[in-house]
Amino acid sequence: MIVLTGFMGAGKSTVGSMLAEKLGLPFVDIDIHIEQRRGRPVRTIFQEEGEQAFRQLEHEAILEIMCGSDAVVAVGGGAVEHPETRRTLRDHATVVYLVVSYDEAIQRIGHDVDRPMLHVDDVRGLYKRRLRVYEQSATLAIATDGRDPETVVLDLLSRIHDATGGERT
Ligand code: S3P
Repeated sequence: MIVLTGFMGAGKSTVGSMLAEKLGLPFVDIDIHIEQRRGRPVRTIFQEEGEQAFRQLEHEAILEIMCGSDAVVAVGGGAVEHPETRRTLRDHATVVYLVVSYDEAIQRIGHDVDRPMLHVDDVRGLYKRRLRVYEQSATLAIATDGRDPETVVLDLLSRIHDATGGERT
């Protein structure tokens, strides 16, 4: 399994689907998986059930996907804050942290109404708090600021090649 993490706007879904295509693997976006299962957008789940309930659904979805066949998987920006999710990822996946600066993330995604965590009181504080968690849970980290997704994917392919001893690429 290859799992992409990083803050909102890091490019997890874009880079993930391109990477999956290059590796000939299926691509799974955990947010979309949850939305399909629950029949409601993530934003509505947050509104109606709250963040904690969403985190639990997210954890269950990730566990299910990690126990299935090989894939490239994009997880939401808050997934690694759940301790059991961190454990699951550590046991099952090569975890790729897509690094994005706060300013560039906001520039890329603006104040998207579909991302409830962009509307908490202190988004910069959230970003800062998560940085260490992303770093600690990552197998490898890739810079994305000022780089287009194609460049990031090529960099990533060579880093995965090195990290897996050429087993995948
Ligand atoms: C979240 C990020 C979102 C989504 C949900 C919560 C977060 O995914 O899972 O809105 O807590 O950072 P993206 O990182 O793909 O935007």
